[in-house]
Parts: sequence; C-alpha cells; structure tokens
Amino acid sequence: MKPISLADLSQFKKDKHKFATITAYDSSFAQLFAEQGIQVILVGDSLGMTIQGESSTLPVTVEQIAYHTRCVRKGAPDTFIISDMPFMSYATPEQACHNAAILMQAGANMVKIEGGSWLCDTIKMLGERSVPVCGHLGLTPQAVNVLGGYKVQGRDEVTANQLVKDAIALENAGMQLLVLECVPTSLANHVTEELLLPVIGIGAGNGTDGQILVMQDALGITARPPKFAKNFLAQAGNIHDAVRMYIQEVEEGIYPGESHSFS
Ligand code: KIV
Ligand code: NA
Repeated sequence: MKPISLADLSQFKKDKHKFATITAYDSSFAQLFAEQGIQVILVGDSLGMTIQGESSTLPVTVEQIAYHTRCVRKGAPDTFIISDMPFMSYATPEQACHNAAILMQAGANMVKIEGGSWLCDTIKMLGERSVPVCGHLGLTPQAVNVLGGYKVQGRDEVTANQLVKDAIALENAGMQLLVLECVPTSLANHVTEELLLPVIGIGAGNGTDGQILVMQDALGITARPPKFAKNFLAQAGNIHDAVRMYIQEVEEGIYPGESHSFS
C-alpha cells in the first residue's frame, strides 16, 4: 500500500470519504491496524492512562512518546503517524521546536498540540521548520485541571463561538489537521464546514471528516468507557474483524451514531 499523505487526507475531505484513525502504542498493534487498512495512527499521550495506568495525561514525557513512536513506526512503516506533544513540552515556540524534533526523528510524520489561538506562533514556527501540526480543540485532556474534569465542551454560545474562532486562527497559522474532542455534533459540523483542513472527531458526532478512537475503547478493554466509545470486538469476535468493522462503520457513517454523540 502506498503511504498516505496530508494531501490524500485533504482529498478525502473533498471527496466526502470519511476515514477512521486509531491510537497505537506498540509495534504489534500498529502492524495489525495497518494490515486491516488503518492509514493514520496516533501515538497519543492517552498512553499515560492506557499504558502507564496514570489518572491523567499530565505525567507523560517527550522521551516516552518518542519511545512509543519508534515502536509504532517499526510495526507500521508506511502508516501516517501523528505523535502527541505532551503537557508543557510546547509551552513556548522554542520548546515546541526542540521537542517536535525528537518526535519527528523517532518516526512521526506530524505532531499534535492541544489548545487555541495562543498556539498560532508555535504552529507557524514549526511549519516553517517543516513540522506539520495537528491541532486539538474541545475537550483537551492536558487542561483537565482548568476544565474541572473530562466534560463536553462548547455547549454554550460563548464557548462555541470561541472554539470556531480558535479553529480558524489555527488554520490560518498553518495547522493542517484538527482533532475535535467531546463537542456537540452541531458545533463539530460547523467547524468541519468552516475549515479547509480535515477535521477528525472523537465524541463529536458523525459529521466530521474522520474519526479517532483510543484503541482500548474500540476493543472493549477500557473499564469505564466514555459515551462515544464502541466495543467493536464484542460484535466482531476477533481483533482483525473488529478493526475492519470500525473502518467500515466510519466510512458508511454508521459509527458514531446518536447514542455515541452529544447534542
Ligand atoms: O491521546 C490521545 O489518544 C488523543 C485522542 C483521544 C485524540 O489525543
Ligand atoms: Na492526546
């Protein structure tokens, strides 16, 4: 299979071809996901919870993401890999450049950072230095101590308008992909229409250009799964078929359904 690029993802958006992405943290799952047709993998700082057993993503370090990025890259040599920049690793544009280099050298094709328009200078600086940036708006788990928990974001008009403004500012600064987490479907649809870049949703309804799931949520491993999660393994019976079912249900607009979304 030909390695996928950001240009292909933009084409998917134009063609209204919905695409499924998933997290992975090691080579064996990365290989399995790639073999079943996953073309974009996120090495998420969710590994703080799923791998390390922490109660938030805050303890995760750049070195740990680099280690898991190397593992995933070995298993999925042709897959588009996005690596999360951990908490405080992009506090300034200079720190972002230093730490993004470590993740790109570990095998990432793109880095992901959480936050609004305060990141414009960072995105510009990274872009000028050939590091593509994925944004992350809505529920941004690194901000859990400010948000006061893992809650749906953008439910009132003021915060919804702010999110739209932030998304546009980040796109204008050079952001090339956006993850929207836990926002009402109508807001996610509006952002997806406003932006030229592909929007990947999680708990954001099924109007976004793509979907992402934490692999443990998709395989029924998470003890108390979030509302938007679906256990594809329960239905499919084995991991290979579960991943193919996830991809197919995203492509056909079956997943996420109403019961996985917020209004
Ligand atoms: O860390 C992660 O897995 C993520 C996804 C939930 C988008 O950021
Ligand atoms: Na993350």
